[in-house]
Amino acid sequence: MPAGERGPTAIRGRLLWYVADPDTEGPAARRYLEDGLLVVERGLIRAVGPAGDLLPALPDGTPVSDHRPHLVVPGFIDAHIHYPQTQVVASYGAMLLDWLERYTFVEEQRFADPGHAAAGARFFLDELLRNGTTTASIYCTVHAGSAEALFAESERRDTRMIAGKVMMDRGAPPGLLDTAESGYRDTKALIARWHRRGRQLYAISPRFALTSSPAQLDATGRLVAEHPDCHLQTHISENLREIEAVAAAYPEERDYTAVYERFGLLGPRSLMGHCLHLSEDELRRFHAADAVAVFCPTSNTFLGSGLFDWGRIRDPRRPIRVAVATDIGGGTSYSMLRTMGEAYKVLHLQGQSLTPDAAFHAMTRGNAVALGLDGVIGSFEPGRECDAVVLDSRATPAAAHRMERARTIEEELFVLTTLGDDRSVAATYVMGEVAHRQ
Ligand code: GUN
Ligand code: ZN
Repeated sequence: MPAGERGPTAIRGRLLWYVADPDTEGPAARRYLEDGLLVVERGLIRAVGPAGDLLPALPDGTPVSDHRPHLVVPGFIDAHIHYPQTQVVASYGAMLLDWLERYTFVEEQRFADPGHAAAGARFFLDELLRNGTTTASIYCTVHAGSAEALFAESERRDTRMIAGKVMMDRGAPPGLLDTAESGYRDTKALIARWHRRGRQLYAISPRFALTSSPAQLDATGRLVAEHPDCHLQTHISENLREIEAVAAAYPEERDYTAVYERFGLLGPRSLMGHCLHLSEDELRRFHAADAVAVFCPTSNTFLGSGLFDWGRIRDPRRPIRVAVATDIGGGTSYSMLRTMGEAYKVLHLQGQSLTPDAAFHAMTRGNAVALGLDGVIGSFEPGRECDAVVLDSRATPAAAHRMERARTIEEELFVLTTLGDDRSVAATYVMGEVAHRQ
C-alpha cells in the first residue's frame, strides 16, 4: 500500500533535536527525550513526545519501529556537494586550480553519457543515505542530462534535494563548456521541469567566476531575478591563486565579492562555498545581503585552501549566516559526523571551540535555516517532513569502549562527531519510510 493511504506509523528511540540556535540559546535550544516517539502520517510528523504519553493514543495495530537504545535525530543536511566527483575524491597532491584541471574536469566530462550519469546518481544517493544525509545542495556537471539523472533518482526515492547543472562557458576543456545563451536556456528548462516537483528544488549554479564570462554571469543574474525562490550556489574565496586569477579576469571589480554583486548574485538564497579569505569589507557586504557562507572543513584542509574563521564570520557586529558541508570530492568524507569532527579541529586550531550542540544543530536545523527550509525539515516539530537518522553511538569497538566513560548527552554527541561515521548510522528514514538500514 502506498504510504499516503496507510494509517500512522511511529518511530521510537532516544529523540534529539533543536528548536533554536545553541550559539545564542545554549543547551535550552536542545530537546531530548530518553524514550521518545515520533508519530508519522503521510510522511509528515504528526506528533512528537514521550512514548508513554503518545503510545496509548495510537490506533490499535499502529506499526512502531523501536530503535532504543539508539539516538534518533533529524536527517543530516549537506549544504554543498558535487555528485560527479565520487571518483575524484582522494586525488593526490594538488591545490584547487591544478586539482580542477588534473582530476575534476577530466572526470566530469564522463557525465555527457546519460548512462554514466544515471549510475553515478544512484551510487551518490545510496552513499548519502548510508551516511544519514537526507537533503543536500548538489552541483551536477555542465550537462543538462546530469541534473536530469540526479533529479529523477531523487524523485524515485522521494528525497528532498536541491541541485543544478553547473554553468561554465570558459576556463575548462571544450567538452565541459556551455555558452551564456545555452546555460541560460538549459537552466530555465530544468527549473520548469524540476523546481518544486515533489520534494525537488533547483539551485542556479554558476560554477565560479573563473569559469563564467561576464556575459554568462549577466545571464545568471537574469535567472536569479526571474526565479527568486530558487537557490543560487557558487564558490568564492577558496584559494589564494584563485583569488588572484579572479582579480586578473575581472580587473574592473574591487574584489571577488564585487564580481557576484555586480550581476545580482549575492542575496539571502545565495550559498557561497568556502569564504576563507574574504576582507572585512566583503564580510560586511555578505552580512548586508544576508548571504550564506558554506563551511567545508575536510575540503579546506585536504586542498590546502585555508581555515574557515567561524568566529570572525559570525562576529556579532555583522554576523553572517553559516552552513556546513562535505564538498565531496574536494572534501574527503560523505559523513556529516566526520565533517563536524573536522570542523571542531579547524576551529580549535584557531583558538575557537565548536560545542557538540553547535555541531549537531549545524548539520540539522542550522542547515535547514540556512537553506530557507526551516519549518520543512531539520527538526522534529509537528508538520515537518519526517526525515530522520538512527545513530548507534557504540557502532565500533573504539566507540563502544569510549562510551563506557560517557556520562552526559553532550559527551555522547561529541564521541559521535569525533569517532563516528557511516558505521554509526543504523538506519535512515525518508518521509517516515526506511531508506537505508545497516
Ligand atoms: N571551485 C570551482 N569548482 C570547484 C569544485 O568543484 N570544488 C571546489 N572545492 N572548489 C571549486
Ligand atoms: Zn564545491
